[in-house]
Amino acid sequence: MRIILLGPPGSGKGTQGNLIEQTYGFPKISTGDLLREAVQKETRLGKEAEEVMNSGELVKDELVIEIITERLARKDCQKGYVLDGFPRNMNQAHMLEGMKDQHSEVVLDIRLNEENLIQRLSSRRICSHCGTIYNLLVKAPGLPDTCDVCHAGLVHRDDDQPEVIKERLRVYEEETKPMVEYFQKKENYHKIEGDKDIESVFQNIQSVLRVELAKFNHSGAVQ
Ligand code: AP5
Ligand code: MG
Repeated sequence: MRIILLGPPGSGKGTQGNLIEQTYGFPKISTGDLLREAVQKETRLGKEAEEVMNSGELVKDELVIEIITERLARKDCQKGYVLDGFPRNMNQAHMLEGMKDQHSEVVLDIRLNEENLIQRLSSRRICSHCGTIYNLLVKAPGLPDTCDVCHAGLVHRDDDQPEVIKERLRVYEEETKPMVEYFQKKENYHKIEGDKDIESVFQNIQSVLRVELAKFNHSGAVQ
């Protein structure tokens, strides 16, 4: 099964994607994480993407499609995967539709108001080593600035600065929202209220997935 997580910056795509991965075993593929890894490793692609990401704009489709095509071709994606942050515009949505990997598909659109998005992004911290996502207000680490899982240091993402957050939200409204409206018309689209605590949001997601997985198992379709 292919699970597509939609939602504005800070809505909880990464957090819920990790929980889906841990619970159902579908690998979470985040284009943001793949791009940040390329930036860190100073690859050709990373060098091209870095400035754009720090400004809050979208990276060119060709680069994102290159990076995601390579990732989805790996063996662990054969039985399904969770997409976090892809697709982000109509061009990318068409690319995904053109893929012939026969997965049944569920779209989960996490919604949250702007005030909460800004608050969550401003208080987010990420483990510099394993990528675990924290929040100083609701999911603080046991020791200050230290990852509970691997004990590496926590960082504040470069694009979580107030001016860049504002730009990312504008880009979402302008470039991603029209694509979300396109997905909304599909039968497999589900709106998820993101303003509850992490566990309650995940419970709602699990209720949707329970029904969708049963449907596809019953019809014998490829998961
Ligand atoms: P990307 O990394 O995808 O960032 P984003 O979409 O802006 O989303 P975020 O990762 O900021 O938020 P999230 O929804 O994952 O929330 P999280 O779970 O962390 O993209 C970054 C950049 O890469 C883009 O700007 C662009 O330049 C480029 N890029 C990526 N994909 C691209 C593409 N397809 N095309 C072109 N360019 C692309 O949660 C946020 C915080 O809230 C955390 O602190 C968390 O602990 C907390 N939290 C989560 N859930 C809850 C809850 N229920 N209650 C309270 N707190 C919560
Ligand atoms: Mg994320």
